[in-house]
Amino acid sequence: MKPKVLVTREVFDETLDYVGQHCEVESNQEDAPFDPETLAQKLAAKDGVMCALTDRIDGGLLQRCPKLKVVANIAVGYNNIDLAACTARGIMATNTPGVLDDSTADLAWALMLGAARRLTELERRVRGGEWKGWRLKQWLGVDVHHATLGIFGMGRIGQAIARRAAGFEMKVLYHNRKRVAPEIERRCNAAYATKEDLLRQSDFVVLQVPYSKETHHLIGARELKLMKRTAILVNSTRGGVVDDAALIAALKDGTLRAAGLDVFENEPSLNPGFLELDNVVLMPHIGSSTEATRRAMAMTAAKNLVAALTGATPPNLLNPEALGSRR
Ligand code: GLV
Repeated sequence: MKPKVLVTREVFDETLDYVGQHCEVESNQEDAPFDPETLAQKLAAKDGVMCALTDRIDGGLLQRCPKLKVVANIAVGYNNIDLAACTARGIMATNTPGVLDDSTADLAWALMLGAARRLTELERRVRGGEWKGWRLKQWLGVDVHHATLGIFGMGRIGQAIARRAAGFEMKVLYHNRKRVAPEIERRCNAAYATKEDLLRQSDFVVLQVPYSKETHHLIGARELKLMKRTAILVNSTRGGVVDDAALIAALKDGTLRAAGLDVFENEPSLNPGFLELDNVVLMPHIGSSTEATRRAMAMTAAKNLVAALTGATPPNLLNPEALGSRR
């Protein structure tokens, strides 16, 4: 008998075809996110789940899923999953690292360039008929080239962001829980800095740390005050890493020049204060959203799911300890 799995959000046809070769699939191609009770009911008799960052997989839910063996997230970030609760129940959890690094780094750059040159604001002005002709001092932006880029989080995506800075001849600083290996620093042409030095010296601060209790409000009022008044903040990782209310206040009173944001606290219902500001570029959590990358992410999650249910070790297992605590 094939293992039973739930695919909680719409995926590509080839993803379902692949999973369907190995599993009995209940899918949600209508794509409306399940509320917690519906998710618990649908998962109660399943062996595996392929889920997304919009699904909260916590201890309470897992308790109601006695057969569950694997949680395969279609994302590299996995703050939607209680990893300790999975491990305690012998449930494997997996993510999709690697396949989205370059697309997400590209989007971080799009946010930097967009905020620096006011792309979304000025497009709104053009569409609104405000452009009456060329002027020397018209809607001035700031340069990205030769500026200092500070990156919080020097994992794979942070490194991909840093490597792109070479073409713009930027100075690159980074801060990370642990200093990265010297050869990575060399390849990225990046120098380690303390959190405070990075904030004080950077013209662009890009956040690429995973979200956790430790990184909750990593950037709040105190940190924003340490930044240059001419600086630009980019959040391409997770809402909650920035205190959105503090950021709105800083963008309003000139503590900070501008921001580029792909993620928000309580998304998709973002703080309405953002909508009143011209000096912020707002994107709907599309960091990895290119066709090729989303297909690769879905297939990576599918392969993790199937591996776990066919006796293999999933390639992107987050909690190898779970194998030892299998009931
Ligand atoms: C997207 O936000 C991801 O974590 O993959």
